[in-house]
Amino acid sequence: MTTLYFLWLFLIPLFQILSGYHIFLVSSQCLDDQKSLLLQLKGSLRYDSTLSNKLAKWNQKTSESCNWDGVTCDLSGHVIALELDDETISSGIENASALFSLQYLERLNLAYNRFSVGIPVGIGNLTNLKYLNLSNAGFVGQIPMMLSRLTKLVTLDLSPLFPYSNQRLKLENPNLRHFIENSTELRELYLDGVDLSSLRTEWCPIDESLSKLQILSIIRLDQNNLSTTVPGYFANFTNLTTLSLDSCNLQGAFPKKIFQVQFLEILDLSNNKLLSGSIPSFPRNGSLRMISLSNTNFSGSLPESISNLQSLSSGTVPLDLIGRLSNLTRLELSYNNLTVDASSINSTSFIFPQLRLLKLASCRLQKFPDLKRRIPESICNASYLQVLDFSNNALSGTIPPCLLENSTNLGVLNLGNNKLNGVIPDSFPIGCALQTLDLSENKLQGRLPKSLVNCELLEVLNVGNNKLVDRFPCMLRNSNSLRVLFLRSNQFNGSVQCDATRNNWKNLQIIDIASNNFTGVLNAEFFSNWKGMMVADDNVETGRNHIQYKFLQLS
Ligand SMILES: *[C@@H]1O[C@H](CO)[C@@H](O)[C@H](O)[C@H]1NC(C)=O
Ligand SMILES: *[C@@H]1O[C@H](CO)[C@@H](O)[C@H](O)[C@H]1NC(C)=O
Ligand SMILES: *[C@@H]1O[C@H](CO)[C@@H](O)[C@H](O)[C@H]1NC(C)=O
Ligand SMILES: *[C@@H]1O[C@H](CO)[C@@H](O)[C@H](O)[C@H]1NC(C)=O
Ligand SMILES: *[C@@H]1O[C@H](CO)[C@@H](O)[C@H](O)[C@H]1NC(C)=O
Ligand SMILES: *[C@@H]1O[C@H](CO)[C@@H](O)[C@H](O)[C@H]1NC(C)=O
Ligand SMILES: *[C@@H]1O[C@H](CO)[C@@H](O)[C@H](O)[C@H]1NC(C)=O
Ligand SMILES: *[C@@H]1O[C@H](CO)[C@@H](O)[C@H](O)[C@H]1NC(C)=O
Ligand SMILES: *[C@@H]1O[C@H](CO)[C@@H](O)[C@H](O)[C@H]1NC(C)=O
Ligand SMILES: *[C@@H]1O[C@H](CO)[C@@H](O)[C@H](O)[C@H]1NC(C)=O
Ligand SMILES: *[C@@H]1O[C@H](CO)[C@@H](O)[C@H](O)[C@H]1NC(C)=O
Ligand SMILES: *[C@@H]1O[C@H](CO)[C@@H](O)[C@H](O)[C@H]1NC(C)=O
Repeated sequence: MTTLYFLWLFLIPLFQILSGYHIFLVSSQCLDDQKSLLLQLKGSLRYDSTLSNKLAKWNQKTSESCNWDGVTCDLSGHVIALELDDETISSGIENASALFSLQYLERLNLAYNRFSVGIPVGIGNLTNLKYLNLSNAGFVGQIPMMLSRLTKLVTLDLSPLFPYSNQRLKLENPNLRHFIENSTELRELYLDGVDLSSLRTEWCPIDESLSKLQILSIIRLDQNNLSTTVPGYFANFTNLTTLSLDSCNLQGAFPKKIFQVQFLEILDLSNNKLLSGSIPSFPRNGSLRMISLSNTNFSGSLPESISNLQSLSSGTVPLDLIGRLSNLTRLELSYNNLTVDASSINSTSFIFPQLRLLKLASCRLQKFPDLKRRIPESICNASYLQVLDFSNNALSGTIPPCLLENSTNLGVLNLGNNKLNGVIPDSFPIGCALQTLDLSENKLQGRLPKSLVNCELLEVLNVGNNKLVDRFPCMLRNSNSLRVLFLRSNQFNGSVQCDATRNNWKNLQIIDIASNNFTGVLNAEFFSNWKGMMVADDNVETGRNHIQYKFLQLS
């Protein structure tokens, strides 16, 4: 045992020494020439040494240049990545022949510098490059033909910071088509703000240029007067995740099929006033996170299948903008990590005369959109409204009575999980059409309103987790429709029994009265009334079936 332990202790350091020695031996030969190239490069570049975080620290005396900030080497000591972004470099790149001799470079990032010259031709000599980032580097003028020799490029980012500047990069000669004709590996192409305007002179320009690059996953060509139609073949780019064509003077009809590309996450077509189209149905499990169609000529309705997009997110939605869509009948923005800003709403802008369905669950709402009764126009005026889901927000204050008063069309009202207080208004009208009423997880007080009996179609009543103080709601015992009754976690008290009538609660299937202050006994007769729970199988004759999760999701 002792021997083994000793051996073990001995083996570890030996192994460490050997392996360290090994790396040192192999790399030392190459290091010297790579190090001297890096030092030459440093010498030829002009930069502000007080602001530089990397270059300024490269030091002749530090032996291991592979550890310098911004430098990455392979195991043999060849420099394979150089990240000199944001280093205040202003000049000297044209003659930085040392840079163009770093033949093993696979990754070069010169983004966010202050060059104001053309892209140096020598970069075309770095034929192993897979990643070239010259974004916001200050380079201007024609992109040199030599760059098209970089046929291993996977990512090319040439986007400038100020796309409208007069001094920007151009792809004129070569044009985009020539430039990328051999770039078969290209997946991410950021040319937003690069002047591609020579394309205009050709027939169907983007078409010829990109059609072969089906492997592309990111295409950004924003801020270019392309004056063309959008080619349908983008729909064949099966790996496409981003298509950004903001402000491109696009025309004609946008090919619907592009909406259906399976992995497409970002589609930005904004500011193309002549681009027309309509939104088709979306595939189930579509990936779209952002669709921007502002300032385009799109028309038509939002398809129901927009709810298939489970990852849509587009930031903050000012509700007053939506409010101007006077023909809108359905709006569902729930569970998208959206913030719906209702604060800008005013009485004249929030008119949804046609609205039938409004789902803003989990949208960080903080107040009911314009519901003050100073004002006649309000959400209560959306008199065709059938589904209103404001659940999982931060709504505070009281429930506006008018919301219930005019609920002769409203079938689903879900205000669950908010911060509502006060009493539930006793204003359910005769002819109340509510089928699902969910007011759970608020701070509601007082009693269940008597007028709830007017809601003869009510199937689901959930007032759980509030501060209600009331007796058991015997007034609902004759309902033919009630199937789900949640009273959990309130201060309901007294007996759970109602006057003995044979048909009490006959369709009730789920009841939850836990965590209240009920007293008394539960006798056998009480349970025998609950016929709805005894249905053995789905009953075709009565059309009644077991309550399923889907049913509860009505809201
Ligand atoms: C680059 O080299 C050329 C010719 O060798 C020279 O004329 C030019 O001044 C150099 N540019 C800079 C910025 O040093
Ligand atoms: C690029 O490589 C060629 C040979 O392939 C060489 O003649 C030329 O000088 C190199 N250019 C630069 C700027 O290093
Ligand atoms: C290019 O570099 C800049 C600055 O480091 C970075 O913000 C940007 O995301 C990079 N572009 C790509 C495509 O990686
Ligand atoms: C692309 O490759 C072909 C064949 O090697 C060559 O003739 C052509 O000049 C290349 N195009 C560019 C733009 O480099
Ligand atoms: C999409 O990407 C996958 C995985 O990277 C690749 O196998 C496939 O060939 C690509 N499809 C196209 C059309 O490039
Ligand atoms: C865009 O290009 C078209 C065609 O060349 C031209 O008629 C139009 O005026 C240009 N628009 C802008 C905003 O430059
Ligand atoms: C897309 O691909 C399909 C099948 O591969 C082909 O029939 C169709 O012509 C292509 N569409 C375009 C616009 O290239
Ligand atoms: C709403 O629809 C009507 C009738 O179809 C139409 O006349 C009107 O222009 C539409 N309004 C808007 C803002 O689209
Ligand atoms: C939701 O959006 C916020 C910013 O608005 C972001 O910080 C957060 O990570 C997002 N959450 C998810 C799950 O995407
Ligand atoms: C209310 O909205 C209308 C229409 O959008 C607008 O003209 C008006 O200035 C807004 N009023 C206030 C007080 O914001
Ligand atoms: C809402 O109900 C109130 C009273 O019940 C009524 O005066 C008002 O006209 C109704 N509003 C609409 C838009 O139906
Ligand atoms: C529960 O009811 C009893 C009387 O039945 C009462 O004394 C008690 O205060 C009640 N508890 C709460 C928490 O309301």
